[in-house]
Amino acid sequence: MEPLLRVEKLSKSYHTRGHEVKVFTDVSFAVNAGELLLITGRSGVGKSTLLGLLSGLDRASGGSIFFQEKEVTGLSLAELAELRASSIGMIFQNFNLIPGWNARENVEAVLMHRGISATERQKRAVEILRELGLADRLENLPAELSVGQQQRVAIARTLVNDPVLILADEPTGDVDPETAAEIVELLLPRVKSGRAAMIVASHGLFDSSLATRIVCLKDGSLSEAAQ
Ligand SMILES: Nc1ncnc2c1ncn2[C@@H]1O[C@H](COP(=O)(O)OP(=O)(O)OP(=O)(O)O)[C@@H](O)[C@H]1O
Ligand SMILES: [Mg+2]
Repeated sequence: MEPLLRVEKLSKSYHTRGHEVKVFTDVSFAVNAGELLLITGRSGVGKSTLLGLLSGLDRASGGSIFFQEKEVTGLSLAELAELRASSIGMIFQNFNLIPGWNARENVEAVLMHRGISATERQKRAVEILRELGLADRLENLPAELSVGQQQRVAIARTLVNDPVLILADEPTGDVDPETAAEIVELLLPRVKSGRAAMIVASHGLFDSSLATRIVCLKDGSLSEAAQ
C-alpha cells in the first residue's frame, strides 16, 4: 500500500537578521491511513514548524513531501490551499479561531471557495457543532466560549471537511484531563476506522498510549522514540 504521506530529507532553516537558524535537517518518515504518529520533543525543537510544512502553510528549505505519492513540495500557494481545503485538517496550538466570527461562521469558513452553497455550508457546520456538543453556542464569538469549547470549535472546523490527514499541534495542551480525553475521543474514530491518518505534535501532554508510532525530534533530527 502506498503511504498517505511520505516525507524525505525535509529540512527547515529560518533566516533572521542575517543569521541562519537551522531548525531540523533530514527528517524522513511516512504515515498510512489508520496510523497515529506522535511527534514528541522539547519546546523549541521544531514540532510546530514541521506541522506547518506538512500542512503547506510554510515552505521547506530542502527535501520533499509526497501526499498520496504526488510531490507537493513544489506546488503553488494556491494549489497548496486547495489541497488543504480538500484533504487536510489542522488543529493549531492556539486554535487560530477568527475572533470576529461566531462558532458557526468559523466552521463554515473552511467550506468556502469549494463550490458548496451557503445553505449547505451552514447545514454541515451546524451538524458537526451539534455532534460536538455546541448546539447552544453556535452564535457565540470565541471570546464568549471557554477554552475547551474553543478547542471543540477548532475540532469541528477540522472535521467538517472529512480530512484524510489530521495534523494536530498540542491538541490537549490547555485543557483539563477529562476535556483532553473527550477531544481525543472526537478525533480518534476517523483514524481507527482507517479513514484518516493523524499526526500529533506534543511535548508530553498527549496520551502516548494512543499513538501507533512515536518519534522524537531532537537536535535537529527525527528518531524513533524509546518506548
Ligand atoms: N518565523 C520564525 N522565524 C525565526 N525563527 C522561528 C520562526 N518560527 C519558529 N522559529 C524558531 O524555530 C524553532 C522551532 O520552533 P517551533 O515553534 O517549531 O517549536 P516547537 O517544537 O513547536 O515548540 P513548542 O513545544 O514550544 O510548541 C524555535 O527555536 C523558534 O524560535
Ligand atoms: Mg509548538
